[in-house]
Amino acid sequence: MNQTTTMEFVTETDAIVPTELQEVEIQLLLEGLYQMYGYDFRGYVRGSIGRRIINRMRAERLPTITALLEKVLHEEGYLERLLNDLSIRMTEMYRDPSFFAAFRNEVVPKLRDLPEIRIWHAGCATGEEVYSMAILMMEEDLWERTKIYATDMNEKALTAAQKGAFPLKKMQQYTKNYLKAGGNKAFSEYYTADHQFAYFSPILNDNLTFAQHNLVTDSSFNEFHVILCRNVMIYFDAALQQKVHRLFYDSLAEGGFIGLGSKESILSMPRGIEYEEFNSSEKIYRKKT
Ligand SMILES: C[S@@+](CC[C@H](N)C(=O)[O-])C[C@H]1O[C@@H](n2cnc3c(N)ncnc32)[C@H](O)[C@@H]1O
Repeated sequence: MNQTTTMEFVTETDAIVPTELQEVEIQLLLEGLYQMYGYDFRGYVRGSIGRRIINRMRAERLPTITALLEKVLHEEGYLERLLNDLSIRMTEMYRDPSFFAAFRNEVVPKLRDLPEIRIWHAGCATGEEVYSMAILMMEEDLWERTKIYATDMNEKALTAAQKGAFPLKKMQQYTKNYLKAGGNKAFSEYYTADHQFAYFSPILNDNLTFAQHNLVTDSSFNEFHVILCRNVMIYFDAALQQKVHRLFYDSLAEGGFIGLGSKESILSMPRGIEYEEFNSSEKIYRKKT
């Protein structure tokens, strides 16, 4: 069974407002996670992460967040559960189809002459966005020259992504998205199915590399022509967003493209980072040459 469906999720409940004491405990828990395990959530938007921690505490029937910290530090298995809660992995194939249509119609022509096209999906979750891009590049006859690096901090998500198996019941929606994104084949050509899952063609895997990478603590590992980091930085505070934008800027080739999520922007960039608004409504920006 696909790991994504077996994992226990703790979802956010907007009604949860941490008390002052819980705020202190949350800070201690985040510090403990960083000091002990190197996972740094200290620059994440506090409201969302606080709610998730409180939900986990309640799911474990623990009296305090401090008790949760104690478990995370001393008991095997707790860390993993908490990490799953803190990584929000909601995704879909051709999410925001107009973004992919713009990518196909406006960005792809600018990539055509490159001998090799390197694309980084940062925060790829379970891979739906990655397979969407792979299919798009295949349809544009650029797959042979494309190398996709797909990274996430969440190992379990990556294991699921590598399998390229997505719930069959979602294929109707994904097919609609694919068509809206400019696809013109039968989407089912790209996968085989059993009663539960759609398995995307292993051919797509040839040029895909999945790897664990944490945007907060790890450095750049290549120079890319395209970086997609969609619906990830929305969970980061302003300082962390700036830090990660610096990482992306330094990892982009001149004239390279960065694509963000629909609710994300490049409004408050650190000094020295200059992008051209290539398609601002689709949040596609281009590094100035
Ligand atoms: C909401 S999903 C977005 C997936 C996909 N990009 C999309 O737009 O559909 C956010 C992903 O970002 C990952 N993430 C969050 N913080 C991260 C970090 N510091 N480094 C790498 N990945 C991170 C999470 O694990 C999660 O898989």
